[in-house]
Amino acid sequence: MNHHSKTALIIPAAGSGERLGANLPKALVQVAGRSLIEHAIYRLAPIATQIIIAAPAGYEAKFSELFGQSATVVTGGVTRTQSVKRALAALSPEIEYVLVHDAARAFATLDLAERVLAELVGGQLAVIPGLALADTIKTVNAEGYVTSTPDRASLRGVQTPQGFSRATLEKAHQLSSDLTDDAGLAEELGIKVKVIAGEEAAFKVTTPSDMKRAIELQVEDSHADIRAGIGTDAHAFSADPSRPMWLAGLQWPEVVGVDGHSDGDVAAHAICDALFAASDLGDLGSNFGTSDPQYAGAAGATLLKETLARLTRAGFAILNISVQIVGNKPKIGARRTEAAAALSQALGGAIVSVSATTTDGLGFTGEGKGISAIASALVVRR
Ligand code: CTP
Ligand code: MG
Repeated sequence: MNHHSKTALIIPAAGSGERLGANLPKALVQVAGRSLIEHAIYRLAPIATQIIIAAPAGYEAKFSELFGQSATVVTGGVTRTQSVKRALAALSPEIEYVLVHDAARAFATLDLAERVLAELVGGQLAVIPGLALADTIKTVNAEGYVTSTPDRASLRGVQTPQGFSRATLEKAHQLSSDLTDDAGLAEELGIKVKVIAGEEAAFKVTTPSDMKRAIELQVEDSHADIRAGIGTDAHAFSADPSRPMWLAGLQWPEVVGVDGHSDGDVAAHAICDALFAASDLGDLGSNFGTSDPQYAGAAGATLLKETLARLTRAGFAILNISVQIVGNKPKIGARRTEAAAALSQALGGAIVSVSATTTDGLGFTGEGKGISAIASALVVRR
């Protein structure tokens, strides 16, 4: 059993970004062509089966538009604690582990999230990333005089994602306290909070100078190890009129399905092949086996999820995917966005675009004998 299927990611993103001073909520401010919340979610999406965003009041539709079905959007509260509390109310029943992650820490890596989750799976109830401090810290009174100098060696600057067992986080949020992180609430409950090594990349975008740092980081990132892959698949329409048509993660009731060992979703299969090719992990057959009984009748979405898990384990992340469906039927146009959202959801929120074409009566697709798909994938090695 994969622990990601029991994990939710909560993103408090309802702050206004007072200190940054942009004229829109901080989570929507762009760095290198993407908003901070998109950076945060695209990096960490593979860790979770459910993503819940707390959006600033009035911006819910804007956030829903960005992520479609791959995320649940709730209205945030007046404070961060209240925003997380509202997101918690939307957790699905199967969730056992919850990672809470600031939209403002947009560049935290999947590796950090995986290390937090691994501690939870190992039995910890509350896990937070922390870094040693470079500056000496003083506590200061209202008049501006130092009141104490805590020992720096025992201090940590803490980050997100902060991970909790579901029960721990729900209990912590029943307290009336309002704090700047969730671990503080767990501490009040007397829960032992485990600190693991944080990372520089998980810094919080707070001020305009943090913004400059974020932009520089993205420029460096553009020299990353980026790889492309292609994949195709084809199936013949079935002679069995009761065979359901599955395509791009959706069922198409007006069309008879195709023959095949799995559900015959050519779009999903072409994408799996493109992803395996881009990351040099073989192909659909070598990964899932055309005769393996485990995958008999397997849904396209299941294969996509498993492909993503294998890619992630091998150190790759998806940048974007494009898939073109070739055939006379079904007509894709009216459900194009829905299809892209279904594929994206199965791939942890990755950017997926769907297009379709006919072949002017030529070939097996033009003659209406079957359907095919061609996909390209761009991935980056972390
Ligand atoms: N946050 C939230 N709900 C609030 C306040 C903050 O969900 N009522 C979120 C922010 O969107 C951010 C995270 O909590 O992702 C950390 O907060 P911070 O960095 O302080 O963001 P802002 O509150 O937006 O910034 P500022 O304090 O400068 O206004
Ligand atoms: Mg704030």
